[in-house]
Amino acid sequence: MPKVLVSDKLSPTAVQIFKDNGVEVDYLPDLGKDKEKLLEAIGQYDGLAIRSATKVTEKLLAAATNLKVIGRAGIGVDNVDIPAATKKGIIVMNTPFGNSITTAEHAISMMLSLARQIPEADASTRAGKWEKNRFMGVEVTNKVLGIVGCGNIGAIVADRAQGLRMKVIAFDPFLTPERALEIGVEKVELDDLLARADFITLHTPLTEQTRNVISAEAIAKSKMGVRIINCARGGLIDEAALADALKSGQVAGAALDVFLEEPASANPLFDLPNVIATPHLGASTSEAQENVALQVAEQISAYLMSGE
Ligand code: MLT
Repeated sequence: MPKVLVSDKLSPTAVQIFKDNGVEVDYLPDLGKDKEKLLEAIGQYDGLAIRSATKVTEKLLAAATNLKVIGRAGIGVDNVDIPAATKKGIIVMNTPFGNSITTAEHAISMMLSLARQIPEADASTRAGKWEKNRFMGVEVTNKVLGIVGCGNIGAIVADRAQGLRMKVIAFDPFLTPERALEIGVEKVELDDLLARADFITLHTPLTEQTRNVISAEAIAKSKMGVRIINCARGGLIDEAALADALKSGQVAGAALDVFLEEPASANPLFDLPNVIATPHLGASTSEAQENVALQVAEQISAYLMSGE
């Protein structure tokens, strides 16, 4: 019987699915944070199911003498050393669709919160102030939303934004003209997007090509008073450049769910009033967590039980 370790917090649905598929499972959700114990334990498992807390390093893989498959309940596999896993013939799988809607909804929530300064207005009202004149917002209707990265999540954001009567343009080298037509977005080059967008939202993985896609130069090419949303990955925005632009007013506001360093307990951006920050909540709904748990357990079980 193949044996799987779940080393991060995952819905109990996953455990049940492993059992139903004839896979032995150890559910140890705190082990992912304990590098030493994880290193001691990993040798006995054929499969590993993780979220983002477990870091699958080359060192861990060297100790994983029986490991055949790693399943990430979520989209980003940046916590797995893929080249090292590949060298050992270990399959790395993710669940690319399970939390797309949830992440897209978070990006839309962040955009509307920015447009109407909801977190600040909430704090001020609770503090007993009634600052009706302070919180002058902007409408999103008829505004241009620039989507950087228009895959699963970006396309859902586009759909929801069109429902809000926004004009949606997208920069994505992988977006075909047919797909752009199908989802009703205008495919543009990055410079064009920067020049035209009132709101920019990022939905691309972090790679060497996308690192600092929102750089000081990119910000300088953007519209004065642009608002930027990042619910994708820290590292896509040059945080120092963004801080400068928020201070100068070139960027009117930024809503950030992800940061260069995570957990982000201290970040200079937190001191700026026109920043909204959430702690990487993009995939945090009960529906999404249920979906990704179910999908990762099905995928790992299928792989292990097929005997490949
Ligand atoms: C993902 O890659 O699926 C999301 O960023 C969610 C997460 O890391 O928990």
